Amino acid sequence: MVGLKIGVDLGTSMFRAYLEGAREIFSEPSVISIEKESGTIASIGSEAYDMLYKSPDVYNIVKPLKGGSVINYDIAQLMLNTFFEHLCKNKVFKPTVAACMPAGITALEERALLKLYLNAGAGRVCLLPQSLAAAIGAGVILDKPFGTMVVDIGAGTADIAVVTMGSTAVSRSVKFGGDLLDKSIIDYLRINHSVIIGEKTAEQLKLQLAGAVKRNEEIAAVSKGKSTEDGMPVYFEVTAGEINLAIKEGLESICKAILSVLETTPPELLKDIAENGIILSGNASRLFGLHLLITEYTSIKSIVIEDPSNAVVKGLRKALRNTKYLKEQGYSFKTMEDI
Ligand SMILES: Nc1ncnc2c1ncn2[C@@H]1O[C@H](COP(=O)(O)OP(=O)(O)OP(=O)(O)O)[C@@H](O)[C@H]1O
Ligand SMILES: [Mg+2]
Repeated sequence: MVGLKIGVDLGTSMFRAYLEGAREIFSEPSVISIEKESGTIASIGSEAYDMLYKSPDVYNIVKPLKGGSVINYDIAQLMLNTFFEHLCKNKVFKPTVAACMPAGITALEERALLKLYLNAGAGRVCLLPQSLAAAIGAGVILDKPFGTMVVDIGAGTADIAVVTMGSTAVSRSVKFGGDLLDKSIIDYLRINHSVIIGEKTAEQLKLQLAGAVKRNEEIAAVSKGKSTEDGMPVYFEVTAGEINLAIKEGLESICKAILSVLETTPPELLKDIAENGIILSGNASRLFGLHLLITEYTSIKSIVIEDPSNAVVKGLRKALRNTKYLKEQGYSFKTMEDI
């Protein structure tokens, strides 16, 4: 194989990549800012994220993914192309890419995703289901007839799967993630505190206060927003209890989705999962007490793996190194001629 190999996790909030031979994971927010007048890229990644909602007259700040899916292909391609060029420096050969796809996407959507990577500068692309990549990254032993449930919860999507013998036996992707929790917090504060806040503030309050279970001590935070009555800036105080209430329904929906996957899991695999527990990955799985809530709902012990945010990209890197495994499981690298 000529050229560099890159494992790419194009997430709703973060782009993560593992370049073969590199020590560090490259990660940048999946955000791009475009100068309105000239239409040129002003910044990309963290620099663009810092500008989010700050200069709406001058820049269009675009997040090309929503709910785990690409909603703006042109911008996503531009962003990927910039990241690929940065990673590959001035290498002549195009990189070989392993990337992930949500469970249950249609053949048409899969083709569109392949095309996106190829148009962005990849030479060959192999797509793996997101939770399978997370399982590989989490170190799940895949060549045994043993069932493991992996739930990857990110900003826009929760990918739930039971993996065994190197592939997924049952899987489901739901449009639930940290972004929806942020939205619930925005709605709650508008209704109950008559205050308007932005997504960034909502996320900060979530990281500071939110929990899926009650904390031993009540905590609170003071933040700033805009009054719904006169539009003037206001300070407000909100407690963890209130934030938990705001996100309760969302958290229950993920628990119900996990239950629905367990219900369709063959009994032999279910027995393995009951013995070994449910593995949680993705950054949103770090929400305080979420693993306890999932345990309570399913009666199966749930554990957040170490370094949950990088499980998928680590899995993709491992998969890239094991082309024999990919071949055996029917995952192949596609070029522009193949699609
Ligand atoms: N400690 C934490 N507690 C709760 N939520 C967190 C924590 N740390 C990060 N998050 C949330 O995790 C989400 C980002 O997760 P992640 O980086 O795995 O998403 P992604 O891979 O970009 O998205 P997706 O896989 O859904 O397309 C954000 O909503 C962020 O607010
Ligand atoms: Mg993700």
